[in-house]
Amino acid sequence: MSEQVDSNEKGNGKTPFFSLRDIHAYYGESYIVQGVSFDINEGEVLALLGRNGAGKTSTLRSIARTGDPEVRQGEIWLNGEPLHNMKSHDAAQRGLQLVPEDRRIIQGLTVEENLQLAQINPPIGWSFEQIYELFPRLGERRTQEGTTLSGGEQQMLAVARALARDVKLLLLDEPYEGLAPVIVQEIEKVISQIREIGITTIIVEQNAVAALKLADRAVILDTGHVVYDGSAKAVLNDEALRNEYLAI
Ligand SMILES: Nc1ncnc2c1ncn2[C@@H]1O[C@H](COP(=O)(O)OP(=O)(O)O)[C@@H](O)[C@H]1O
Ligand SMILES: [Mg+2]
Repeated sequence: MSEQVDSNEKGNGKTPFFSLRDIHAYYGESYIVQGVSFDINEGEVLALLGRNGAGKTSTLRSIARTGDPEVRQGEIWLNGEPLHNMKSHDAAQRGLQLVPEDRRIIQGLTVEENLQLAQINPPIGWSFEQIYELFPRLGERRTQEGTTLSGGEQQMLAVARALARDVKLLLLDEPYEGLAPVIVQEIEKVISQIREIGITTIIVEQNAVAALKLADRAVILDTGHVVYDGSAKAVLNDEALRNEYLAI
């Protein structure tokens, strides 16, 4: 583990933008995240993959400092700052934004009010104008109640809310889940635009092929361990690896 970090530091002469070091996390006594480590360079998109139950969501929740699962060991560094002793609110202030699987659109609020709520505290990110430029559909529906949007539009709003904050690391948990293929294509387009803008992103997806198309790198988890860390393209070309850990 420390060897890996040392060689990375030797490699590019500086510490990585984001670094997860030997994370161990538990739900009660259930030991789930069992020593996960990886680094991400600034602007990189990392696909975090693995079968159902491999520990992907738990790893994202550990990074976001949700407290559930409880991280009992390990370090989390973002942009030179340690996050491992912070609460989720403070980690969010530092630029960590989790878009959870269930999207958590606030009931009773319009699209724009959902965005306003995200900006209630600094640091503020994109303006509403910038957001509506990337998501014209949200602009058209700015006065509509957020929970009455279609699934794809709610996913866009959940991502937009993260951009409304000053996001430095975007964590996307299964952004394509439950969406029709044509809507998946729309969300893919948005994520690829976010990538071009240079926002460092971790994308968790059951649809591994779709995630690998967008990602620079891939980390594959199996029972809470990292079993692959390398280029995304190499995973697409490695049938044995895909059969063993991704079932695709
Ligand atoms: N709240 C929880 N309490 C106890 N066990 C959980 C909880 N959430 C997830 N788990 C267990 O942790 C393991 C990893 O789950 P998860 O991180 O959701 O996997 P993935 O996102 O890769 O499908 C699974 O065995 C799951 O049953
Ligand atoms: Mg999950």
